[in-house]
Amino acid sequence: MPTIAFLGAGRMASAIVDGLLSQKICAPTALTCVDGGDGTAVALAARTGIGVAPELAYLLRDSDALVLACKPQQLADLDARLAELTAGKLVLSILAGKRLASLAKVFPHARALVRAMPNTPGQIGAGITAWCPLRTLAPADRTLVDAILGALGTVVEVAEPQLDAVTGLSGSGPAYVFEFAAALRDAGEAAGLPRAIAWKLAMETILGSARLMARTGTEPEELRNQVTSPNGTTYAGLQRMAARDFRGLIKETVLAATARSEELSRD
Ligand SMILES: NC(=O)c1ccc[n+]([C@@H]2O[C@H](COP(=O)([O-])OP(=O)(O)OC[C@H]3O[C@@H](n4cnc5c(N)ncnc54)[C@H](OP(=O)(O)O)[C@@H]3O)[C@@H](O)[C@H]2O)c1
Repeated sequence: MPTIAFLGAGRMASAIVDGLLSQKICAPTALTCVDGGDGTAVALAARTGIGVAPELAYLLRDSDALVLACKPQQLADLDARLAELTAGKLVLSILAGKRLASLAKVFPHARALVRAMPNTPGQIGAGITAWCPLRTLAPADRTLVDAILGALGTVVEVAEPQLDAVTGLSGSGPAYVFEFAAALRDAGEAAGLPRAIAWKLAMETILGSARLMARTGTEPEELRNQVTSPNGTTYAGLQRMAARDFRGLIKETVLAATARSEELSRD
């Protein structure tokens, strides 16, 4: 059973802890956390039964891995003792925009270094997380990374240069889906439905369509075609989407987010 330390005990760390405990990958006694002084670690520990470390040396004393889950802007101010305290340990960072080369300066003696980009549905175990290692991982470390990130949902390995595009697609993607849901709701209201009903219809349509796509493994175009009869209602709607270049807009959206991620990742 792995012993895992969490530096940061906010939303994402809590989601990983919840997943590890609910999937019975770890017992609460195998997990320890620290926070930045605002009480999130004590709150997480009280809720889940995991340990709170009074300080960094205690946090890392018996842990095999460190999950770095503070805010990216806090990386530069972390305790310099972390370099020695993480010697021989696996360090897994979920910090947005912090490249492996930067992390390697803070954790120079880690046995393995991994950078990951989760997304917000990870908070309910329904996320997708892309990750990349500094160097090829030993099989046991790969298993450990899969277990930690698997607590948030699905896991996929990518090359580090692809992480900006991952950020543009799945990292920022939930916001695009929420925006689409809001647009569907508003459109339903404009078409004459009460707002609450339009909201429910929009949400369930997105949820059900995503489930259908996942369960059948069928390409989205094929599923789209299955509900589109010639000159029918769906066809009329899709014609409007095509006329306004919906796909071009989404492409621009993802490319803009990817470009911004590239900018923010420059040290
Ligand atoms: N939320 C997402 O969907 C998402 C997606 C992708 C990536 N990420 C990444 O996940 C990371 C965490 O995000 P979050 O949403 O979980 O943030 P959050 O809820 O604000 O949690 C940040 C945690 O870091 C702690 N912290 C701050 N300074 C610290 C220090 N010096 N030492 C130890 N702990 C410290 C905070 O403790 P106190 O507040 O108690 O001081 C808090 O527990 C970020 O780097 C973000 O880029 C998040």
